[in-house]
Amino acid sequence: MMTANEIRDSYKKFFESKGHVIVPSAPMVIKDDPTLMFTNAGMNQWKDIILGTKDPEPRRRTDSQKCLRVSGKHNDLEEVGHDTYHHTMFEMLGNWSFGDYFKEGAIDYAWEYLVDVLHLDPKDLYVTVFEGSPEENIPRDDEAAQYWLKHLPADHIIDGNKHDNFWEMGDIGPCGPCTEIHIDSRPENERNGIPGRELVNKDDPQVIEIWNNVFMQFNRKADGSLEPLAMNVIDTGMGFERLVRMLQGKHSNYDTDIFQPIIKEIEAISNFKYGFTTPSGKDGECANDQEKVDVAMRVIADHLRAVAFSIADGQLPSNAKAGYVIRRILRRAVRYAYTFLNQREAFMFKLLPTLVREMGGAYPELPAQQELIGRVIKEEEDSFLRTLEKGISLLSGAMDELKAHNQTELDGKEAFRLFDTYGFPLDLTELICRENGYTVDEKQFDEEMAQQKARARNAAVVENGDWMIVKDGEQEFVGYDYTEYECHILRYRKVTQKKNSFYEIVLDYTPFYGEMGGQVGDQGVLVSEDETIEVIDTKRENNQSVHIVKEMPKDIEADFMACVDTDKRNASAANHTATHLLDYALKQVLGEHAEQKGSYVSPTTLRFDVSHFQKITDEELRQVERLVNELIREDYILDEHRNTPIDEAKKMGAVALFGEKYGDKVRVVKFGPSCEFCGGIHATSTGRIGFFKIVSESSVAAGIRRIEALTGANSEEAIYDQEDTLTELKAMFNNPKDLKAVVQKYIDEHEAMKKEMESSRQQGVARHAKALIEGVEQVDGLNIVKAVLNVDAASAKDIVFKVREAITEKLVCVLGSVNDNRPQLSIMLSDDMVKEGGKNAGKIIREAAQLIKGGGGGQPHYAQAGGKDASNLSAAVDKALELLK
Ligand code: SER
Repeated sequence: MMTANEIRDSYKKFFESKGHVIVPSAPMVIKDDPTLMFTNAGMNQWKDIILGTKDPEPRRRTDSQKCLRVSGKHNDLEEVGHDTYHHTMFEMLGNWSFGDYFKEGAIDYAWEYLVDVLHLDPKDLYVTVFEGSPEENIPRDDEAAQYWLKHLPADHIIDGNKHDNFWEMGDIGPCGPCTEIHIDSRPENERNGIPGRELVNKDDPQVIEIWNNVFMQFNRKADGSLEPLAMNVIDTGMGFERLVRMLQGKHSNYDTDIFQPIIKEIEAISNFKYGFTTPSGKDGECANDQEKVDVAMRVIADHLRAVAFSIADGQLPSNAKAGYVIRRILRRAVRYAYTFLNQREAFMFKLLPTLVREMGGAYPELPAQQELIGRVIKEEEDSFLRTLEKGISLLSGAMDELKAHNQTELDGKEAFRLFDTYGFPLDLTELICRENGYTVDEKQFDEEMAQQKARARNAAVVENGDWMIVKDGEQEFVGYDYTEYECHILRYRKVTQKKNSFYEIVLDYTPFYGEMGGQVGDQGVLVSEDETIEVIDTKRENNQSVHIVKEMPKDIEADFMACVDTDKRNASAANHTATHLLDYALKQVLGEHAEQKGSYVSPTTLRFDVSHFQKITDEELRQVERLVNELIREDYILDEHRNTPIDEAKKMGAVALFGEKYGDKVRVVKFGPSCEFCGGIHATSTGRIGFFKIVSESSVAAGIRRIEALTGANSEEAIYDQEDTLTELKAMFNNPKDLKAVVQKYIDEHEAMKKEMESSRQQGVARHAKALIEGVEQVDGLNIVKAVLNVDAASAKDIVFKVREAITEKLVCVLGSVNDNRPQLSIMLSDDMVKEGGKNAGKIIREAAQLIKGGGGGQPHYAQAGGKDASNLSAAVDKALELLK
């Protein structure tokens, strides 16, 4: 039996033998596309090629792509674990033809691979072809059906509707009819005379789609219309996990060697056994505890992969956007582990070595960052488990309330508050309530949820108008060489955000850099003969610079000069170049594990995140600064290599980032020993940075440190500031020669003075205590000590404790003290007064302190109270004594 790793290899090798170039998976996390957070299909990384804005060579490629379907059009999250074949993260095997072979080639290759290489039985294979759509004016795909007839009898070819056989990436973007290959994997004795074709696309867990061949022919536009693509594209996607399941003869993807090693590890850690069941109750509900355990194990095994691969791609769990999706996936797994496997402590991170062992060969980003991934997962688990504990204690409080009021249903608002404020999920609230004999008002919970969603929608509505075409064509970026360039408007659109609105413009030529790779977009102006329009920001969309303007020019067809604000750009560029030098220096000083984990540069900011597992010491920071400043003084000239084939770039030693999407050709940016893959705007030489100064070092997440630094005029100003502070400080000490020695002398004198004062205070305490002890009065068998003294609160406390040390029986000591006009009352009792006499200093002091307009409390044997009215202090002392007698 072939292993999963062997199957993945055999697929790529087969297509390599058919002239395809094997290419790596793109990152699963997408950084520069506002329409998509995660790769949800193999074709995402080729979107630009498919839309014709990027070089299609080489025209035949093959890969295994990491995908995540947890948001947007393709979202499987809630299914995962409850069945045997949905996943958050999965691998998609793909072969691609960009304007090379089309329907016939794709169908022939698919057949040859499945039947001749993998030896699947043709009688179990069914295919679907698009039935056509009159309203979109697309006929039935007779062509594909015709080619399939070469391999399959007509009754294995089934017409499919738009939902199943017209594939779209999202609401907009490349799309086209597709042909799917389904396999009937039912054992002979379970077929009961029902032919497989009747079960295709009928949710039968054993008759499933394994391969989708999309014939990309259209681009879906924002207005819903279809425009034909310039070339025909083959986009095939084979669900790797399903294929492995078929070939290994398993009933469930989770029974293959992709998931079993992880599940075995979960068994070992949790002491629960996997039962190979699926939910059998109504609507897929779990009918017994074993089914719940199995769902939990599948959820954990699946989610571990999604989370680990996302972190490897540079996406840390967080509170926003992609980071929040990852956090939710991880928390879903923790929740199942907590509820069904009794895991009260972080444990997912312990599964990581198994995952790395199984998948690290195919995806080197995993082993390379194993330590970081493990730390991040553990920290997330720990923090969510704390949230769960907190939620559980709040919930038990709420249930006590219900009990006290003889009620049995928890308010939906309360359940929502737990969810919203403490991240405590409804199903867990319900479970705990049920176990304690309560129900939850789910309807009210849903209403609260709907209201909150409506509020969020109102706050964040962004409406993008349709693009208005002024001139046909695509944009060329000229910003590496120019900061001013003649141009024309190609298209524009209006964007409305709540009360705010602006326009986005695409130019034919532009020197404006659109925000990307942590560098902010350029600002500047568009100038025509008659007007000047301010560009307030530049964004990046589909590899093009989109210029943001408040107002459209009156003459949109005019000749414009696009002029970048060079002061701002030069400052950003210096900061960007400094991050490269910083990256290099950190690796020198801390070691090769110090990987860039994020950066942000603007004209005024330089922020750099790096993986390192403890605080970077002051000494190390200084070493880093020295090295960066040395590289600045060397004044290395920018040595850039555009359109370098990626292998050549790697040979040059260029540093690439995990999780970054690189094309076949990349730009390499070198400054002396620093060499990186980079598309950003840089200083023309390192000398332009001027001076580099780190201003802070902090932690952003487990194993990730953040450095903030200044360059150029900003670092100069920071030094002036520090110098000014020092100058003022010197002046305060009369400009001594050796400021440090003088300050040290002051500190020493101050310490000595403090000691002296403390010792004289102690003497005072001893003197007062002695006098009080000597002045003790015996009244009715009690030892009464009372006084009003001018001492501070700390001394008053020390005095009464000294009295108690000396008089251990029948002691009733009441001391009034005044300091700075603030009265204070202290009561001290010997233990027998509390135990046998039943007296309580804490209670009595509250009453007596009313006379000095104050309050306080304490223990039964000792209490203190402060007040506002010193004039009644003696009366308060007498009152306390009276209450104590
Ligand atoms: N794009 C298609 C899919 O995701 C085929 O790769 O199913």
